[in-house]
Amino acid sequence: MKKITCAVLGYGDRSSRYANYAKLHPDELEIVAVTDVNHLKLNQAKKDFALDDRSLYKDLDAFIADGVKCDVVINGTMDQYHYETSMKLLENGYNLLLEKPVTANVSELLEIRDKAKEKGCKVVVCHVLRYTPFYSTIKQIIDSGKIGKIMDMQLNEHVWYGHFVNSYVRGKWRSEKECGSGLLLAKCCHDTDLMCWLNNTTRPVKVSSFGSKSFFTKDNAPEGATKYCCDCPQRDNCMFDAYKFELEKDFIPFYTWAGINKPLDEITREDKEEFLKHDAYGQCVFNTDMDIVDKQCVNVEFENGTLGTLSMVGGTSKAGRHLHIICEYGEIVGYIEDNKYTLRVFDKREVGYHDETIDLSAAADSGEKDNSVAGHYGGDYYIMRDLVRFLNGEKTSVATTVIEDSVNGHLICYGAEDSRRENRTVFLDEYK
Ligand SMILES: NC(=O)c1ccc[n+]([C@@H]2O[C@H](COP(=O)([O-])OP(=O)(O)OC[C@H]3O[C@@H](n4cnc5c(N)ncnc54)[C@H](O)[C@@H]3O)[C@@H](O)[C@H]2O)c1
Repeated sequence: MKKITCAVLGYGDRSSRYANYAKLHPDELEIVAVTDVNHLKLNQAKKDFALDDRSLYKDLDAFIADGVKCDVVINGTMDQYHYETSMKLLENGYNLLLEKPVTANVSELLEIRDKAKEKGCKVVVCHVLRYTPFYSTIKQIIDSGKIGKIMDMQLNEHVWYGHFVNSYVRGKWRSEKECGSGLLLAKCCHDTDLMCWLNNTTRPVKVSSFGSKSFFTKDNAPEGATKYCCDCPQRDNCMFDAYKFELEKDFIPFYTWAGINKPLDEITREDKEEFLKHDAYGQCVFNTDMDIVDKQCVNVEFENGTLGTLSMVGGTSKAGRHLHIICEYGEIVGYIEDNKYTLRVFDKREVGYHDETIDLSAAADSGEKDNSVAGHYGGDYYIMRDLVRFLNGEKTSVATTVIEDSVNGHLICYGAEDSRRENRTVFLDEYK
């Protein structure tokens, strides 16, 4: 197998995790260049991969002008930059590992797909959940036909409050106006993708959706609450007080303190206390400029009659991605957090069924367990393993995706948002 050479665009949280695969498997992947607008990120990349200064770029145009040769570019910029940067890279013939969501609107999505086709480039979208042992073994069971065709898929996504507040109430995905993505697209294009991928003998045709921001609103602020927690008289009575929630619990430091613009290990407690006095991370959760929903449900009908429902709630006590798939002769039920699920098979000769527990915890690859790439239940690791094989023309897992496969899941998100806003059922053919 040939070693894959890889450049990174946007050396942030996501890209650096993917790039770490090169440290675990230097014989498979080599990071040859990094582009980032932030010099701290370039310094970090330089250290992480012993890159010389000529391999570090402050902007994409300089990277392209230099004609850097590589087998693939990881595009890990934030959502609002995916379209422009991906189009430039594709125009210049680069294969992409592109973070999800591809983009926030249908015309840009299809333009990226078409540009990839025109230029003969491969675009793998980071639907990392597909690659987890949990979902990929479920896909294999469904594809085997053992329990018949899918009749109904019930999916839930409960976003733990630590994650929800740090990403969607105070964090960088809180404003659709700024980042381009609403909550459904940013958080649950994984789930709409899973629905389409698990059921890819057909395609989604109709979508309806409801949702709103109902908890993180001004009306729910404690009486007398101020805009910033630092001078709020209700601090002692509020679980979201920034000094408790962000400083003491410090759930996701690389999100919370990114705006201080110092390496994480050099940030002092004083820096953090000062930061919370003026940044969104120090604001009352009931009074930020969050312009997205905190809960939404989505109904989908597929061409062959399969139904799918997704319920997404932000701000729950625990993270929970649950699935219950009902097929003609069996069911699959489980939480990905448990790393196991129940496979229920009907006995076709008798009235009855038997349950089997599929426990995946023992099967974990050592790479999956390595913290630096272990995110998303191993999905971050397995997508890189597949990418290397895919670019080598070798056999890949059931998860490997090309851009065409990502279109339907995105269309469900766009359709759901139009449905929610316009109070109507959306026929996905209208986007053609
Ligand atoms: N697959 C998943 O499950 C998953 C999970 C979380 C986030 N994401 C997505 O991954 C993407 C990246 O998220 P993140 O949290 O790593 O972001 P990040 O902010 O940590 O990283 C983005 C990096 O891009 C750099 N950058 C911005 N504009 C640039 C430009 N024009 N040229 C070069 N560099 C530029 C920034 O300086 C930063 O270092 C987002 O689209 C996000 O929605 C995906």
